[in-house]
Amino acid sequence: MQDISLYIHIPFCASKCHYCDFSSFSGIEDRIPLYVNSLIAEIDLYRQKLENYNVKTIFIGGGTPSHIEAKYIYRILGHIYENYNAQNVKEITIEVNPGTVNKEKSRIYKELGINRVSMGAQSFNDSLLRKIGRIHNAKDIFSSYKILSQIGIENINLDLIFGLPEQTLNDVLKSTKMAVELGAHHISHYGLIIEEGTKFYEYHKNGRLYLPDEDLEREMYHRATEYLVGQGYKHYEISNYSLKGYECKHNIVYWDIEPYIGLGLSSHSFMEGRRFFNTSDFSSYIDLLKDNILPVDGEEIVDVNGELEDYCIFGLRKIDGIDKEKFYSRFGINIEELYGEALTKHIKGGLLVDCGQFIKLTKKGLDLSNLVEIDFIK
Ligand SMILES: C[S@@+](CC[C@H](N)C(=O)[O-])C[C@H]1O[C@@H](n2cnc3c(N)ncnc32)[C@H](O)[C@@H]1O
Ligand code: SF4
Repeated sequence: MQDISLYIHIPFCASKCHYCDFSSFSGIEDRIPLYVNSLIAEIDLYRQKLENYNVKTIFIGGGTPSHIEAKYIYRILGHIYENYNAQNVKEITIEVNPGTVNKEKSRIYKELGINRVSMGAQSFNDSLLRKIGRIHNAKDIFSSYKILSQIGIENINLDLIFGLPEQTLNDVLKSTKMAVELGAHHISHYGLIIEEGTKFYEYHKNGRLYLPDEDLEREMYHRATEYLVGQGYKHYEISNYSLKGYECKHNIVYWDIEPYIGLGLSSHSFMEGRRFFNTSDFSSYIDLLKDNILPVDGEEIVDVNGELEDYCIFGLRKIDGIDKEKFYSRFGINIEELYGEALTKHIKGGLLVDCGQFIKLTKKGLDLSNLVEIDFIK
């Protein structure tokens, strides 16, 4: 039986952060029961399709899944266990926000088989947290982390963002240090992206956002990386670091271009040579599922060229890079034969390095990965 991963989207948040363009809403909590009913209907509609698949990992993301009552997560996961081959799921992650978990909620998560929690800390500096629209402070990160550990969640990720308005290098290093001192098993360290449609986009357009310059932003990234690696974390993807054995299995599915189904508003899927995505319109999502129609809003057939492109681009985001043997066994051709020109160009230019079994980005390549990626698009 082939493996498949599941992503489940929960699009509710207590309030909208100034930088975030994820599909999420605040102030529509009255629609949570309706949304969960739709998710259940969507799970049913995939039952036959997933009959011959074994669920490998589950990621409940958002939005803020911990913003809704645990009884809903219970219902969703319960329905998956009843209807899919999910007896041997290797990893179940839920995203939580600091201050939104208590002992009871965490205990239910654990009883449901959730064995990984990803918490959006973003920073440990209270004034920065306020500036980016977070409604928690550093103390909430500590207390939520403590509750989760005490209940026995043994794999906790903390998300941090660097390059925030008026953030200093010292701030960044302080936050990474705090995350390490808390004992995080995994740290995702993202560079701030100014996304259209966010408050920060408007501030930026009006010249009211004082962002660190590019050199400082890159220094933040490399200094934090040096620090985390020195503390025993493996830098295994451009933005991800983990203690040994705590790499995120679900995200590795995405980076290795393995199949996954996205359930919920605006979720994306990749299965049997097709990429497709759900509607991002809340009412359409609910209405279509009321009529037992899959809420798919678009699709793309992924031919061999498309798969090669994705495999190389995502492969190079992994710090180990592309495994030449795996490439050969998947595509039946040597990577050098297909991409000789691009490889030579970027090895000469110092952005790629050939380590024998692997081809990977150099330190300079990590900063300029987009220049490399372009040459892997056929
Ligand atoms: C699905 S989001 C949020 C999960 C959760 N609701 C939270 O806020 O903690 C996952 C992560 O993406 C990161 N993120 C979201 N928007 C970003 C942006 N514009 N730039 C960089 N990182 C971003 C944040 O670190 C966030 O924790
Ligand atoms: S960062 Fe998290 S809490 Fe903030 S708006 Fe986005 S999904 Fe919601």
